[in-house]
Amino acid sequence: MRSIAFAAALTLAACTVSEAPEDQAARRTAPVLTGEDARDGRSFARPEVARVTHVALDLDADFAARRMAGTATLDIEAAAGAGEIVLDSKGLEIEAVTDTAGAPLQHALGAGDEARGRPLTVRLPAASGPDQAARRIRIRYRSAPQAAALQWLTPAQTMGKRHPYLFSQGQAILNRTWIPTQDSPGIRQTWEARITAPAPLKVVMSGERLTPEGEAAQAGPNGARRAYRFRMTNPVAPYLIAIAAGDIAFRELGPRTGVWTEPAMLDRAAAELADTEAMVTAAERLYGPYRWGRYDVIVLPPSFPYGGMENPTLTFLTPTFIAGDKSLVGLVAHELAHSWSGNLVTNATWSDSWLNEGFTSYFENRIMEAMYGEARARQEAALSWAEMEGALAELGREAPATRLHGSDDPDAGASGIVYDKGAIFLRTLERIVGRARWDAYLTSYFDRHAFKPMTSARFLADLRANLIRGDADLERRLMLDQWVYQPGLPANAARPDPAAFAAVDAALRAANEAGTAGIPYARWTTAERLRFLNGLPRTMSGERLAALDAAFGLTGSGNAEVLFAWLQLALANRYEPAVPAAERFLAEQGRRKFVLPLFETLQAEGEWGRPIARRIYARTRPSYHSVTSTSVDRALGGES
Ligand code: BES
Ligand code: ZN
Repeated sequence: MRSIAFAAALTLAACTVSEAPEDQAARRTAPVLTGEDARDGRSFARPEVARVTHVALDLDADFAARRMAGTATLDIEAAAGAGEIVLDSKGLEIEAVTDTAGAPLQHALGAGDEARGRPLTVRLPAASGPDQAARRIRIRYRSAPQAAALQWLTPAQTMGKRHPYLFSQGQAILNRTWIPTQDSPGIRQTWEARITAPAPLKVVMSGERLTPEGEAAQAGPNGARRAYRFRMTNPVAPYLIAIAAGDIAFRELGPRTGVWTEPAMLDRAAAELADTEAMVTAAERLYGPYRWGRYDVIVLPPSFPYGGMENPTLTFLTPTFIAGDKSLVGLVAHELAHSWSGNLVTNATWSDSWLNEGFTSYFENRIMEAMYGEARARQEAALSWAEMEGALAELGREAPATRLHGSDDPDAGASGIVYDKGAIFLRTLERIVGRARWDAYLTSYFDRHAFKPMTSARFLADLRANLIRGDADLERRLMLDQWVYQPGLPANAARPDPAAFAAVDAALRAANEAGTAGIPYARWTTAERLRFLNGLPRTMSGERLAALDAAFGLTGSGNAEVLFAWLQLALANRYEPAVPAAERFLAEQGRRKFVLPLFETLQAEGEWGRPIARRIYARTRPSYHSVTSTSVDRALGGES
């Protein structure tokens, strides 16, 4: 009974527009959304009773044991009378839970499940000082060697071959495998960290770096431990806490931008990323100030399971975006755009991940247009449309999985829906209301909701209150509810410019009759090459594939997206000469977007492909991050 009353009290506080917070913590952190739309089924936390507002980590990165070990000290805001707090944890070995004076606190790891881990319930210490709501607890713990968020690389798995490497991936619900906190995107937390690692490894995190390079550099001998300090003073969703440690070097790209990577990668990375500072400026011109101080990126070893991850102040990137010609820097625009859509305004639960990824894909395309012109942006938007069409065709246009507001498992949602249909929804709104009015609205949206969680329902309410403003005709033309809650594609969808790929589409029609002669492949952009490869018939003879490969050097492409598109086509046609290249590609990088579909394609090729998949996977699996290997395990029907 009582806890319902607390919940109601907090809900009221969260809805007050001009709140007068009694304490600093309440001012620093954003409200937790409550109500049906914001219930996070992927977390055990009960933020309406007690919520984490600040995390202070003091951890040693133990490369020999493959563990993070030390303490997490949590600031907690509790409803009056609340006796306990529920945290998320997965595989953590809890050694002690105390107050800050060291007095033990009662705690228990409850029954959980494979996906979410286990709830860690801690009896709260008595409130201290004048502030009755604020409490602090300290957890001494170690992460498990198999923690899903962390990948510990051996020296052999790095470019330099001499030092180990560690990186984390928090989204969506992996950070609970190394940080005991409330791991839900609606529960924003400020944080600070002191991390030790053996020299000469350097540590970077997704926040402000407080250890000057010089200070950290006065190492002892190799192996001597040194400490790095960081802090994040903006309240962030906990999936955005990230770490990397390795033999890495830094190069400035601009006044507030720079790149970290292994020394042997630095020149190539910096060249590909030369436009980063200008991208930040372009993004600000579109949707308002960049609010995170520095924008640095780290180019990780090739086992990083995603293209990129928008960790605040420090985007994590796969090295596979380096093509030598900046043709894949849409990825950087994308992760940068998340500094607004995702990191400032954040999906309250993973059922609304389109609010992060769809907005970001739209914003990405606007940055690309501002940077490289309309023609390139139009081509990339047309590729995105094709991705969406592919997802609709595969899932079925009536399928619930084609709704934007959907399942809370981000791994279950097709990217063609969440990313591409999401972006096309916003492009549709832009076309109907006009760019100037739409851009003004979106800027004000980021501003009004900065550092707060967002839901589909609240976004639609915000659109109605601030853009539509009672215009019944506009309301009808936008078809908002159909876009967000219904499957398939609404009739008002903004279609891509049919001229975007006119030349390629003509060549495709010709290629179907004639051979490869006269196809100006060498002069095409990467987007045009992808359109071409993905537009070829899915069933082709070995001779035709050989002719294409010979004419365009597909197997030897240094562009990972092009190579991937080619290998997909080649393997689906059991084209033997592509197998060694596929094996090399699957061994030298671990990006799930490339690895999983290639194994799925092989798996679908029965007695030809399955043995190849099994043979390659037996060799490559140990080098993959758990995000990738878990997916491939499932696709191949159990570990091989
Ligand atoms: N935030 C995502 C990565 C992510 C999504 C991690 C869901 C875990 C769960 C990131 O911003 C992203 O979208 N990466 C894409 C980039 C692409 C769309 C340009 C990727 O990794 O391919
Ligand atoms: Zn994204």
